[in-house]
Amino acid sequence: MHEPYLKAMAALLRRSQPRHDLYTVFGHCMEAMALAIANSVDLRQREPREARYLDIVGHYRPDVLDLFPQVLAELVQALEAGPGDVLGALFHDLELHNKARGQFFTPYTLSRFMAKVTIGNPESVRSIIGDHGFVTAMEPACGAGSMVIALAEAMRDLGINYQRHLHVTAIDIDPRAIHMAYIQLSLLHVPAHLMVGNSLSGETAEHWYTPAHILGGWNARLACRRRHEPTGETHVHPVEAPPAPVPMRHTVPPFCEPRASTPAMPQQLTLF
Ligand SMILES: C[S@@+](CC[C@H](N)C(=O)[O-])C[C@H]1O[C@@H](n2cnc3c(N)ncnc32)[C@H](O)[C@@H]1O
Repeated sequence: MHEPYLKAMAALLRRSQPRHDLYTVFGHCMEAMALAIANSVDLRQREPREARYLDIVGHYRPDVLDLFPQVLAELVQALEAGPGDVLGALFHDLELHNKARGQFFTPYTLSRFMAKVTIGNPESVRSIIGDHGFVTAMEPACGAGSMVIALAEAMRDLGINYQRHLHVTAIDIDPRAIHMAYIQLSLLHVPAHLMVGNSLSGETAEHWYTPAHILGGWNARLACRRRHEPTGETHVHPVEAPPAPVPMRHTVPPFCEPRASTPAMPQQLTLF
């Protein structure tokens, strides 16, 4: 399904050779796309991100720079054809994983299987959503987002609107992976907070909020849930509390009051 788009994206990026190193161009292309998306919604981090964007584009002549939006257009078409880890597959097709010290991403078919296993009985997910409004998922080593995308697709297949009823926290130690995951989760409109960080030590360096997170008022929804969770049931994330993004002016935090009689139950799915 994604083959023609993957071929087109690889061919576009290869046009930058031999003048540029493919690994660097790929990284810059991903970062520039992620910055462009983030800057349309995350106003608090806009200024330094705009400066970084201008720094990246300053490296290239117009003919190479023109390749970046063309790669994005192919990616959008690929994801419109169907969900998948398109950028993870592109990373492998370009053989960049060898250069990245053997960074392998899970094949999407396997991620889909694991998503179904993670969900388990669909009725328990439906019941959590019925009681709390949403489920949360944690991906402590997200790569390009394969498992998160598969989870969203699995929920969609169950008739659950993941754009409203799923919130994802995703971490990766490699900024390039976070850029790839951020782009794909943004385009699929998955509410998510992604961090460049070390899941083992708990250190975090960067926070990326998808448009679905910001426009959906997820800071308020998550804070509301934290207020209503009994102390013993609060999920401990292995990272420090993130800075809150500035919401868009037209954002209306959704009503998120859980029922008073809601029983405490685990709401977080863990992917790894
Ligand atoms: C094998 S890949 C899997 C990625 C993704 N979960 C998937 O299924 O495609 C492992 C990922 O873990 C990341 N990683 C390794 N050590 C980490 C750490 N301590 N904290 C966060 N991420 C880490 C790597 O950068 C890499 O992207």
